[in-house]
Amino acid sequence: MKTENTVWHQQQVIKTQRAEQKKQRPCLLWYTGLSGSGKSTVANAVDALLFERGHHTYLLDGDNVRHGLNGDLGFSDEDRVENIRRISEVSKLFIDAGLIVSTAFISPFKEDRAQARALLAEGEFIEVFIDTPIEVCEQRDPKGLYKKARAGEIKDFTGIDSAYDMPQAPELHVKTAEQDIEQCALQIVNYLAEQGYLA
Ligand code: PPS
Repeated sequence: MKTENTVWHQQQVIKTQRAEQKKQRPCLLWYTGLSGSGKSTVANAVDALLFERGHHTYLLDGDNVRHGLNGDLGFSDEDRVENIRRISEVSKLFIDAGLIVSTAFISPFKEDRAQARALLAEGEFIEVFIDTPIEVCEQRDPKGLYKKARAGEIKDFTGIDSAYDMPQAPELHVKTAEQDIEQCALQIVNYLAEQGYLA
């Protein structure tokens, strides 16, 4: 066991005190959805709205994190599991710091999303399913990746030859093919306000 000679230190300033100082209830908006579904776009719009309203937020975005912290990982099932495990742990640290955190990763496997939820306290994990049909994602194809995947130039592409487990009971179900980005972002911010996260 790698932790056998280490001891957990209780910190003097605790999560609730950090959050109280920021006048918000820390939570993790966990965006999940196919490539091209609009996760990053919606997450950025929500983050900007919250920031404008004076909230202390942080956004961890798939492509960006894969350039740094997770630069050693690819897209095999095993690497995706490790990708999401690290993101979950990093998010927990930001939650401890009292922030409203957003993560925008495909996070295709339901077990990994369940583990991310299990790391946090009740009510801190908010699953946001960016539910955009694959046909729409493929038509958008902002990075040309579907085209490459169909041509066999990219292997293990989510929705083509790698699985995506649809969330069964997400806290928020967002349909970017039916609403514009502003409406999607407001749906999420309104939920946070109604549930008392922005107090
Ligand atoms: S995962 O499944 O959660 O580990 O993926 P994530 O870290 O969110 O990375 C997804 C982005 O990586 C690009 N990309 C791929 N996606 C899916 N499958 C394969 N094989 C792949 N290769 C590269 C793609 O730009 C994804 O970005 P989004 O924003 O989701 O389109």
